[in-house]
Amino acid sequence: MPAELIDGTAIAARVRAEVAAEAKLLTERGVQPGLTVILVGDDPASAVYVGAKERASREAGIDGRTIRLPASTTQQELIAHLDRLNADPAVHGILVQSPLPAQISADTVIRRIDPTKDVDGFHPVNVGKMLIGDRDGFLPCTPAGVQEMLRVSGVTTHGKECVVIGRSNIVGKPMAALMLQDVRGANCTVTICHRYTENLARHTRQADIIISAVGRPNLVTADMVKPGAVIIDVGMNRIPDASRKSGTRLVGDVDFDGVREVASLITPVPGGVGPMTIAMLLKNTVRAAQRAIA
Ligand SMILES: NC(=O)c1ccc[n+]([C@@H]2O[C@H](COP(=O)([O-])OP(=O)(O)OC[C@H]3O[C@@H](n4cnc5c(N)ncnc54)[C@H](OP(=O)(O)O)[C@@H]3O)[C@@H](O)[C@H]2O)c1
Repeated sequence: MPAELIDGTAIAARVRAEVAAEAKLLTERGVQPGLTVILVGDDPASAVYVGAKERASREAGIDGRTIRLPASTTQQELIAHLDRLNADPAVHGILVQSPLPAQISADTVIRRIDPTKDVDGFHPVNVGKMLIGDRDGFLPCTPAGVQEMLRVSGVTTHGKECVVIGRSNIVGKPMAALMLQDVRGANCTVTICHRYTENLARHTRQADIIISAVGRPNLVTADMVKPGAVIIDVGMNRIPDASRKSGTRLVGDVDFDGVREVASLITPVPGGVGPMTIAMLLKNTVRAAQRAIA
């Protein structure tokens, strides 16, 4: 029997409805949650993501704003914007959209954001809190969204073998750290695979849960998956497709049709992890506002 789908769009809609209810309560108390996104340059994909974040914020009753800066912006200029937003009590969440132009150091920028407004969860203070299991920080949105999907889908995680493919600071590493925590929806035995992993299939075949965050179509095929495994596909890849008007289509890292015949649960691309990322960003923003008045 083919695997059931984990419907990220539906789960994200529920999270967004909860966020909207909490934002309404806060607004009634005189504090509308505020999220400001800074976009530097004119990368078309970034512009689409930023537009989606602003729209989703507004739909949830969050004061979502975007500061659009030219590609020639200097690091000092960007830092001046961050300092102003850090000091603005109406701004509870700050996000700097990546990628940044070459003259700006992403590390420097992330460190400049007040950790209590770092709703992306990338500041070293929040990364450290996540790692030691201090729930007072912000969790990075994509890994937190994946964990929420597993919880909502009733996936048993404790004691299970979880293989995370990819070790980036924004997805793979925090994803592995979250699945390792001693909390509900985690307690896995975690293996992290990367470019130098020898015999990837040997690891994935042991896994009860595979989370792929690489950016390579068809990296995970049916022969690499244990029957009944749960598959979370974080990858987003544009591949040519002459049947589409755009000439391309979006796929994940997983050979969806093949793997669906072996797995028990699987996320589609699109409509899987993607929608959860924005939902968790909104959730973090409302939490930041709640904290600010606590
Ligand atoms: N759905 C969402 O909301 C969302 C959010 C963020 C990212 N994404 C997508 O998720 C994917 C990963 O994003 P990212 O930012 O983490 O990418 P990244 O920074 O490029 O990291 C990719 C990781 O994959 C590893 N890798 C590359 N080839 C591999 C192979 N053959 N076998 C095993 N591991 C391999 C790399 O290993 P090394 O470290 O050894 O180079 C690296 O750790 C991308 O497709 C991105 O578009 C989706």
